[in-house]
Amino acid sequence: MNEDRNCQWRVARRPAGNVVAEDFLYTEEDIPRPGDGEFLLKTYYINLAPVMRMYMSGKSAAGEKPLAIGDVIHGRAVAEVIESNHPQYKIGDFVHGQCGWQTYKVSSATPQEKFRKLPDIGMSYSVALGTLGMTGFSAYFGLIDCGKPRRGDVVVVSGAAGGVGTHVVQLAKILGCKVIGIAGGKEKCDLIRSIGCDVTIDYKEEDVAEQIAAACPEGIDLYFDNVGGETLSACLDNLAMRSRIVLCGSISEYLLDEPYGLTNYTNLRATNSTMQGFFIYNHVHDFDRAEHDMANWLRSGKLKPVEHIFDGFEKLPEALASLYTGANYGIALVRIRRGPHDKGD
Ligand SMILES: NC(=O)c1ccc[n+]([C@@H]2O[C@H](COP(=O)([O-])OP(=O)(O)OC[C@H]3O[C@@H](n4cnc5c(N)ncnc54)[C@H](OP(=O)(O)O)[C@@H]3O)[C@@H](O)[C@H]2O)c1
Repeated sequence: MNEDRNCQWRVARRPAGNVVAEDFLYTEEDIPRPGDGEFLLKTYYINLAPVMRMYMSGKSAAGEKPLAIGDVIHGRAVAEVIESNHPQYKIGDFVHGQCGWQTYKVSSATPQEKFRKLPDIGMSYSVALGTLGMTGFSAYFGLIDCGKPRRGDVVVVSGAAGGVGTHVVQLAKILGCKVIGIAGGKEKCDLIRSIGCDVTIDYKEEDVAEQIAAACPEGIDLYFDNVGGETLSACLDNLAMRSRIVLCGSISEYLLDEPYGLTNYTNLRATNSTMQGFFIYNHVHDFDRAEHDMANWLRSGKLKPVEHIFDGFEKLPEALASLYTGANYGIALVRIRRGPHDKGD
């Protein structure tokens, strides 16, 4: 990476299946200068999310505009203000928000960029993309506000070893639930057991429907769905009375031409159950509450971030592909440069 240039990753072509190197174009340009009412940001971390492949496919998703071929790819980042002509953003401030896959950005803090200033809680600022960012907040609002967990509930979480999933597992344990985590492979099952899962299901080796039925003889009280497809269908076959299904994501369907067709959703009827989707940016008005609660759990040590850090700006394409191959553990982040509280300074 050239420190004296603005390095960028752009869309080279539309991905077919998982993203591959040829889908990305690396470019460099002069570092931009801020005009009146603008500030210049230097990027430290960029987080990876499955939705980025949809951006590259030219689809409008997660409130971002569709990308044309040649556009810089959308991505949320932690960045430092290094020049400023903006009254509310001072040199030395750290923010997280929409910076794109680039090492510098000029901004006027538009609503579209959704910048938030970082709380300094004495931990690496990477935490602002995980536990104190959209990944942690998705777990918080999805589980707590939509799922309404009660102490003793049987909670099933799919994608349990991923960014959102590792937070949901830990929050459900903090709230006194029995947690069944579903993930791909023995190592991931070991990981989710170490952060609190009472039962783990390796969906690559085991029959998910059978294992869910065995682990939840009284049925599922709350299913937090990150993957959709057959796993969602298996959970619908094992509902307790007044069960809640929270639709967070459906990554098992994102590479399919046609979405999976559920045939058993009517099981909701017999059990007075509900299935509720949510979109994280519909909870913007309440982000302060999530940040406050999550920061307290972090400080107390009850909640531990699980981060998979790819070092170097050049790793962004590989890091995005990892989400679809299952190579990531916890939240996938690319570290562009070390920041405050980072080990190795
Ligand atoms: N509703 C919202 O506002 C909102 C906000 C954020 C994220 N989301 C959604 O939440 C989900 C989790 O997001 P995240 O950012 O935390 O990503 P993540 O879980 O870290 O994503 C990658 C993981 O998904 C699993 N996976 C990949 N392909 C799969 C397949 N075919 N079947 C089952 N699992 C598969 C892999 O784990 P294994 O190795 O275990 O397969 C992989 O490590 C995604 O579906 C995302 O779109 C929604």
